[in-house]
Amino acid sequence: MHKVGMLDLKAEYELIRDDVQAVVETVLESQQHINGPAVAEFETEMADRLGVKHAIAVSSGTDSLLCSMMALDIGYVDEVILPSFTFFATAGSVARLGATPVFVDIDSATFNIDPASIEQAITERTRAIIVVHLFGQCADMDVIRDLATHNGLALIEDAAQAIGATYRGQQIGSWGDTACLSFYPTKNLGGFGEGGMILANDEDLAALVRQLRNHGESERYIHQRVGGNFRLDTMKAAILRVKLQNLDEFTRRRRHNAALYNKLLDDSVVTAPYVPEHHEPVYHQYSLLCDRRDDLQEFLQRHGIATGVYYAVPLHLQKCFASLAYKPGALPVTEQTCANILSLPCHPMLADNDIHYVVSRIHEFYGITKPGDRGSGKAIEKTAKT
Ligand SMILES: Cc1ncc(COP(=O)(O)O)c(C=O)c1O
Repeated sequence: MHKVGMLDLKAEYELIRDDVQAVVETVLESQQHINGPAVAEFETEMADRLGVKHAIAVSSGTDSLLCSMMALDIGYVDEVILPSFTFFATAGSVARLGATPVFVDIDSATFNIDPASIEQAITERTRAIIVVHLFGQCADMDVIRDLATHNGLALIEDAAQAIGATYRGQQIGSWGDTACLSFYPTKNLGGFGEGGMILANDEDLAALVRQLRNHGESERYIHQRVGGNFRLDTMKAAILRVKLQNLDEFTRRRRHNAALYNKLLDDSVVTAPYVPEHHEPVYHQYSLLCDRRDDLQEFLQRHGIATGVYYAVPLHLQKCFASLAYKPGALPVTEQTCANILSLPCHPMLADNDIHYVVSRIHEFYGITKPGDRGSGKAIEKTAKT
């Protein structure tokens, strides 16, 4: 049977095996596992690439969110506005600091935070907005940055899924007070283990982040603040530098895959991702809205095709946030999206015939045997605001 996976990390590794083994050997020979030269080198390369003044490597994407908010002094009594349709870490980090996550709805067309909902959620206690560039698609950065500036709020970009995406030609990750990246192995720049990065332009904020990353130390064993151990290992930084060399080519392939899906998919049965003008996404996921999602997923699995549901349960309805008292129906676009979303394989090692195979099975599921058939599916309506 033709098999199509959501990722092929082994094939990706084959492309760089020799280079990875060489840097691993260099780090092993140095025995400088913490704060070795590869960490600073990786930080400089990332800052240059993403057009920011400071890039600070940390232990995970989750820790980049946590440490960013510690540096922005977010804590008890503060409210942080964020989308409910995101990975748990975005909200978990707010709650871990004792602040209150204020969940708002998304734009049904882009799956990203809806600027109008942000505006309605601002109170006297609001300290920050977190935008998530979900699936590698940019949030509406100019509108949201204006909103943050106008209301004196910090702006944090959760760019865990969006390295390399641009909005109005400017890199995602360079718009907020801080931006957070993840190098979790499945990410577009995936490391060999956990890893993350904080991006910032402000000198003082960056210095604070560096301090907090290392238990708040200003000099050896002198602690100005309570921080954490948020460091990235030398070995992981050295390997990420190797992986970085393929990022542009891998992004190009993801965009190619998405364009091919867009061309082949019959939009009378599924709703393909919508990309507004001035947005250049990087397709961390290629996510459809589709009717009878669970049945389609099961059908594809039976035909050897892996898919993903990101995310089935919105964060405002998670048990751990029950004390915030959101009821089903509170964020209707988010809830509807959770019921209909399905991500298809889009990774850089796919061949065009894999995509042809996936699309033909989707059409088969909906009863489309030749172009022009109506089939049994229906496109999910989007109420585009962008
Ligand atoms: C949107 C988003 N935010 C935050 C994270 C957390 O990153 P990490 O898994 O590196 O802690 C992830 C990734 O898993 C993510 O997808």
